[in-house]
Amino acid sequence: MIDILITGANQGIGYATVQQLISDSSEEVRVYVGARSLAKATEAIEKINIPSGRSAQTELIPIEIDITKNETIEKAATQIPFLDILVNNAGIYVPDDFSNLDKLVEGMQNQFNTNLIGPIAVTTSFLPILEKSKNRPAIINVSTGLSSFVNMTNSASPQYGNTEMMYPASKTALNAYTVWLSKQRPDWRIVSFAPGHTATALNGFNGRQTVETAAKYLFDVIHDAKGPSGVLIQRAEVIGW
Ligand SMILES: NC(=O)c1ccc[n+]([C@@H]2O[C@H](COP(=O)([O-])OP(=O)(O)OC[C@H]3O[C@@H](n4cnc5c(N)ncnc54)[C@H](OP(=O)(O)O)[C@@H]3O)[C@@H](O)[C@H]2O)c1
Repeated sequence: MIDILITGANQGIGYATVQQLISDSSEEVRVYVGARSLAKATEAIEKINIPSGRSAQTELIPIEIDITKNETIEKAATQIPFLDILVNNAGIYVPDDFSNLDKLVEGMQNQFNTNLIGPIAVTTSFLPILEKSKNRPAIINVSTGLSSFVNMTNSASPQYGNTEMMYPASKTALNAYTVWLSKQRPDWRIVSFAPGHTATALNGFNGRQTVETAAKYLFDVIHDAKGPSGVLIQRAEVIGW
């Protein structure tokens, strides 16, 4: 049995990953389906296609966790007795708007609150639970290929032409947390993961690949128990920070 918490799992890549975990995991899983409200998490689970031989009751547990609200994070931590893998998936994208200072600053604050401070708060609250794992604990911080300085500065990279500043910067900061934490816990598996440009609500469904494709990459990282730590994985490949 592997116990997994995915934040922001009511839609998009997180939701598609829940579907693949219950459909394709060779071992029993218990997936805590995190969402901003219990209603959102429960509604998401109701839409999951449960293959025969698997049980939504025991394998999919709805959890209220708004990653910008400490009280919901702390409450969620009291409801999850065991955890092997934490997937910090919840995230937002706010376009840059340099024409209006109030909007610019508010967009940066919201984005850093959700994409950086939220995952750190969630991880900090769940470290004692992950510590009890009988397996090698894993933390997967969902980042983006846009966060990588190597991608940003390599003219051959598809991310080179990106013109946004705030969203990539919030995820670059998240990568710094990944590196720092992986050194704090050298026996654990702590990675940043970039799923690839995916059609979801986050980008107005403009991404190039489907959520199922992105979820397959995340599924493989989740199940890569012996995989590397302290790295940035873009889809299925370790890339430079
Ligand atoms: N789509 C892409 O091309 C792409 C590329 C690289 C990286 N990513 C990353 O992949 C992750 C998943 O995004 P997605 O593309 O699947 O977008 P999505 O469909 O918009 O899903 C984002 C999820 O995060 C949740 N969320 C946002 N703020 C939250 C908060 N404060 N507390 C709890 N949950 C919150 C959303 O909840 P609500 O439904 O309640 O809003 C939603 O479930 C994000 O970290 C994103 O940055 C996406």
